[in-house]
Amino acid sequence: MGPELLRATDGIQQRALANPRGIVLGRRQRGLDCPLRQRGKLDFFTVRTAMPAPAQSDPAPSAFAHRGSEPLFHVRELARVYGEGSAAVTALAWINLDLFAGELIVLLGASGSGKSTLLNQLGGLDSPTHGTLLYRGANLAEFDEAALTNFRRDAVGFVFQAYNLIPSLTARENVALITEICRDPMAPEEALALVGLADRMDHFPAQLSGGEQQRVAIARAVAKRPEVLLCDEPTGALDVRTGITVLEAIERINRELGTLAVIITHNAILADMADRVFTLSDGRIVNVRENQVRGQVRSLAW
Ligand SMILES: Nc1ncnc2c1ncn2[C@@H]1O[C@H](COP(=O)(O)OP(=O)(O)OP(=O)(O)O)[C@@H](O)[C@H]1O
Ligand SMILES: [Mg+2]
Repeated sequence: MGPELLRATDGIQQRALANPRGIVLGRRQRGLDCPLRQRGKLDFFTVRTAMPAPAQSDPAPSAFAHRGSEPLFHVRELARVYGEGSAAVTALAWINLDLFAGELIVLLGASGSGKSTLLNQLGGLDSPTHGTLLYRGANLAEFDEAALTNFRRDAVGFVFQAYNLIPSLTARENVALITEICRDPMAPEEALALVGLADRMDHFPAQLSGGEQQRVAIARAVAKRPEVLLCDEPTGALDVRTGITVLEAIERINRELGTLAVIITHNAILADMADRVFTLSDGRIVNVRENQVRGQVRSLAW
């Protein structure tokens, strides 16, 4: 199949690159065989070469009452291409999804499928090569540095596989470090109690288990009352039993504070704890599963 014009797009600052997965993003170039060559005024374009847009990430209204009419995140045709020319890697392609306040979302997929890339896009850590990402109707691509900083500071809590705690500070102080710069934080003690660490506030990281350290990291992320909690393999470094305590903390925060939680995992069993499960493969959402009833973390068959 020859190249097919999908949409002319002004402003994609990306050199023309054809990649094997079927999306070409970039500037009009002499000799590139696509219909836009006839459209002299448009410098930028998107064409599809071989792969049709998959039927995926159905953005249809949900059955769940807690999903209001306005999604927190509205993502359309999102693509992220790293590098250029023959070295180009399409980390994300044609992502369409809506995420709603109060949802618990699990992202599944093999290594390299684009999970972290997607999470970084949602968290304003990286910007798309193509497509739209709206947060509460505002286009993150149009935020200046100050607005992006505010978005990351106030709206988003991040939890990574590495806990990134400061060893010379106690659990309470690690959380306080963040709450001191936020608009409407909860007390560090309240955040630590939420994750079950009321009796470990004055311990240093070295005096805490891996799971406890990760829960301090979660307390630090939620103490600022973010609307979104983005967790990139939060249990990746933990054994099963410890991982459960960490996931229970995230589940509780989602339930009690109504925080949209997005959890990346390699463990398909965790799919049962989610409202919706997105499976990525080669940078695309290849499956969306909706659980009418969420499983409790403790009751999942590990
Ligand atoms: N900064 C970068 N520069 C170039 N390529 C990158 C970059 N970051 C990610 N990639 C590539 O994009 C693809 C998706 O990477 P990503 O980290 O999102 O995968 P992942 O699903 O999170 O994998 P894992 O489960 O191993 O963490 C991979 O092919 C990766 O090599
Ligand atoms: Mg990753």
